[in-house]
Amino acid sequence: MKLNLRVWRQTGPEDTGRYERYEVPDAEPEMSVLELLDTLNSGLLDAGEEPVAFDSDCREGICGACGVTVDGRPHGPAENTPSCHQRLAGYADGDTLRIEPLRAAVFPVIRDLVVDRSALDRVGEAGAHVGIPAGTAPDADSQLQDHDAAETALDFAACIGCGACVAACPNGSAALFVGAKLGHLALMPISSRDRAPRAREITRAAEEEFGSCGLYGECARVCPAGIPLRATGVVNRERLRAVFRRS
Ligand code: SF4
Ligand code: FES
Repeated sequence: MKLNLRVWRQTGPEDTGRYERYEVPDAEPEMSVLELLDTLNSGLLDAGEEPVAFDSDCREGICGACGVTVDGRPHGPAENTPSCHQRLAGYADGDTLRIEPLRAAVFPVIRDLVVDRSALDRVGEAGAHVGIPAGTAPDADSQLQDHDAAETALDFAACIGCGACVAACPNGSAALFVGAKLGHLALMPISSRDRAPRAREITRAAEEEFGSCGLYGECARVCPAGIPLRATGVVNRERLRAVFRRS
């Protein structure tokens, strides 16, 4: 089938950017959005033109590298599906797709569809310390995890750090991402001494980088890892808990 594309082109952070129109005459319904861009780029290269820059890596929905906005929706029209798994089956011959970067003030465009998502990394790094003296003896307050706690921690650990939740949020909040990190780490069998300082550092870093959560719920609808909206409540729970546990 033939698909018409309006693709965001931007040579760098200082460029204002614009949409360019393209045609892909040989698109297939089983293609992913990224494979559509691959096909477009093959044609552009054959014509001696600059290919469209976009991020991808695993193409299996597990790395978080991909992320474009399709027809105004982060990752694409299918809910809870990463761009690398968004198929074209919902489009018909002659349809037009609008493809642009993930849109958030905290994610500046580097080139075309590639954005700088390092703000997410800075939040993760803020909590990535372990204040336990390393040694051979186990910590006195370390605990074995029960099965349910381990399952819940793993559910939160499924976050792939793609940033779609931020782009979907009218406030540019990363509450779903932050809640996934805190919900995961709070249940890990580490020293309980780290839980409060980690929550303080992560929430401080998140407040510096991102907007506040208004409980719109758009984040959970686009999240490819299926992180539930209740993760945003984990942020407040861990923040409050940290206030009352200063050590
Ligand atoms: S919470 Fe979901 S949408 Fe947000 S960064 Fe993690 S995987 Fe992506
Ligand atoms: S390319 Fe890895 S999640 Fe899409």
